[in-house]
Amino acid sequence: MSKLIIANWKMNMSANAAMNFVTKISKSKNQIVIASPYTFLKRLKNQLPGFVKLASQDVSIYEGGSKTGEISAQMLKEAGCSYCIVGHSERRIFKHETDEEINTKILNLLKFKITPILCIGENIKQKKMGQTNKVLVGQLEGALKGIKKIGNFVIAYEPVWAISTFQTGKIKKSASLDNIKKAHIFIKNWLKKRFKSQSNKIKVLYGGTVTPQNSPEIFKLKVVDGALVGAASLKASSFNAIIKFN
Ligand code: PGA
Repeated sequence: MSKLIIANWKMNMSANAAMNFVTKISKSKNQIVIASPYTFLKRLKNQLPGFVKLASQDVSIYEGGSKTGEISAQMLKEAGCSYCIVGHSERRIFKHETDEEINTKILNLLKFKITPILCIGENIKQKKMGQTNKVLVGQLEGALKGIKKIGNFVIAYEPVWAISTFQTGKIKKSASLDNIKKAHIFIKNWLKKRFKSQSNKIKVLYGGTVTPQNSPEIFKLKVVDGALVGAASLKASSFNAIIKFN
């Protein structure tokens, strides 16, 4: 099975570096997506090879109008986005985003047929207290509230403690394979209960210090449909090493 592999560039890259990156992406049998900063979405869209899709890293809770500084789902559609990340832990932590806001963002995206990439995951304190599953259920229930027809949808399981941003040491570590497997099985079972046969179409990705070294083992897990890659997606050489998996 091919995997869905998403580069999350965060607030990195310049327009020139991004255009240069695009010329270097190797062909892959996997589905590739780049989540770029807003300012070069449109330029990227014109340059991306056909097998690479475009994502935004966020969307407004508002649909339009007098909301200075906001970017709507409609604008993302116009810029060529097929996907959009919502609820990334950096936004939940730095911007205090709530599940309710994330739910509104998802509803806005679905109106414009943009596939949401919903990030969920526990922090280290919650993990240590054995609350991982409880946290995941709370985030899923909150973000998916009121949604009956789910269609194309992506969930990224990103334990906060495994994301490179939140690790202070020089050597960054991903979650263990056992950890990833357990969480993915739990999420998939929850989705199956909630969305019945519709859940077959929902992809569940892992994110948190995915590298060229650990990605083959992670991708070999059948319950893992792909990865959301941060730091290792910033250089074409390391991203190419990850997407060559087959
Ligand atoms: P990382 O980031 O691969 O650098 O840990 C992943 C993410 O934050 O989406």
